[in-house]
Amino acid sequence: MNITVQQGEIQKRADAAVVVNLFEGTKPGGATAAIDKALDGLVSTVLKSGDITGKKNQISVLYTQSRSLPKRVVLVGLGKRKSLSLEGIRQASGTAARKLQNLGVERASTILHGAGAGGLAVEAAAQALAEGSLLACYRYDDYSSPASADDRNRKRLKSLTVVEFDQARLSAIRKGVKAGKSIAEATCLARDLANQPGNTATPTYLASVARRLARKYGLHCRVLDESAMKKLGMGAILGVSRGSQEPARFIILEHGTGKKRTASKDEGPLVFVGKGVTFDSGGISLKPGSGMEDMKFDMSGAAAVIGAMQAVAALKIPRHVVGLVAATENLPSSTALKPGDVLETLTGQTIEIINTDAEGRLILADALGYAARYEPAAVIDLATLTGACVVALGAHASGLMSNDQKLANRVSKAGEETAERTWQLPLFDEYRASIRSSVADMKNSGGRPAGAITAAMLLAEFTKDYPWVHLDIAGTAWSSKTRPYIPKGGVGVGVRLLTQLARTWDNAR
Ligand code: BES
Ligand code: MN
Ligand code: ZN
Repeated sequence: MNITVQQGEIQKRADAAVVVNLFEGTKPGGATAAIDKALDGLVSTVLKSGDITGKKNQISVLYTQSRSLPKRVVLVGLGKRKSLSLEGIRQASGTAARKLQNLGVERASTILHGAGAGGLAVEAAAQALAEGSLLACYRYDDYSSPASADDRNRKRLKSLTVVEFDQARLSAIRKGVKAGKSIAEATCLARDLANQPGNTATPTYLASVARRLARKYGLHCRVLDESAMKKLGMGAILGVSRGSQEPARFIILEHGTGKKRTASKDEGPLVFVGKGVTFDSGGISLKPGSGMEDMKFDMSGAAAVIGAMQAVAALKIPRHVVGLVAATENLPSSTALKPGDVLETLTGQTIEIINTDAEGRLILADALGYAARYEPAAVIDLATLTGACVVALGAHASGLMSNDQKLANRVSKAGEETAERTWQLPLFDEYRASIRSSVADMKNSGGRPAGAITAAMLLAEFTKDYPWVHLDIAGTAWSSKTRPYIPKGGVGVGVRLLTQLARTWDNAR
């Protein structure tokens, strides 16, 4: 979808559809009032009927009959004026855009929601509008053949024009739309990776995507193959990879290493680390068959990191940012890792395997150990790590665990700002006891109690040298239902949070 910005009056557009909004419990104002007037009070009449109230994400389509007017007027509810937020704009824009796409409309115009009576900052509102519209219209249809799937035949919304009367606002709107577009595209890349089946989205494939990004966006990229990992002593990821014919990859993407890299030269980089298990069968500790197909999304942390690196580069954020991805399959075979085995990690710390299905923390142990080389200002890892986190928080918050409260607060704030919310769980010393091993430095499972926390306790053993936040996205990375700007399937969760964190990093200092 192409989003452009033009000066003009929405009621004068000859488009197939225009989008305006309504607040709950108020008369039409601004552009909606102008439309109402041009339609001889039709909007007011419908409002009086009570059929439309302006409540959040309510959608109605009015059909006009005059040649000089747009054919359809789409009214989207913004809810109560006082409680309007950027998330409200993302949702309203997304709901409207998807409605247009489902109607088969290919070109439409919209006003900018929220920056008038809503009182939100113009640039931020425009970014939210672009994000919501692009993310809502996302579809994954790589594998639906034209003949068999209706999906393929459904039209896409190709162009959306943001129409603004006030000339003075155009440049802020253009800036916001441009940023929103970069961020949404990066999120859609992460969604594509998560939705893609395990037989094509292999560790090698993730590496090829990273290399392609590097070329296109001017990132630095290095990919370690298994022999390079062996030289470094990355025994944990190699242990997990042993059961599969597909070779593991360790992917390093770097942004902003150039001369004028950042305002704060003496501060280390932000390092993002992603769990990239391209298929998690559980290994020898095999998972039950039902629902196992969903485990192709077990690389959603990696997808978020790759997406965020694209966004950070596209936005030219003046800061050194590193993305690390540990990519492997987790399969059973005669060469696979077994319960009772002991692995030696990059740092020399050893882990006894209790359950080969607790593989995420193993590969992250090597990746987090590797992260220390950068003397980072902060490390954020993202992983679909535990079923326990799904039980605890469901789909509406990622689990947040940290060894540094200041960093935890900053990540949590970025989560609020992007509506990729997090909820903190404790890492009390006492939990360490559940991963104590009698044969190695630790064991890879602490059993059922506090499963999300004991997994993070293992990671904490590898993050002692820097401020660190772990985000367990097991419940948030996949959506089982359609939400205003999140279709079913891969969510791309984390891309917007990480990008916001990188963009605002200096503000908090
Ligand atoms: N990838 C899974 C976690 C997961 C489960 C994500 C369900 C999304 C939905 C992870 O590798 C795993 O299998 N974890 C085990 C750990 C246990 C064996 C200690 C789990 O959570 O059951
Ligand atoms: Mn597993
Ligand atoms: Zn897993």
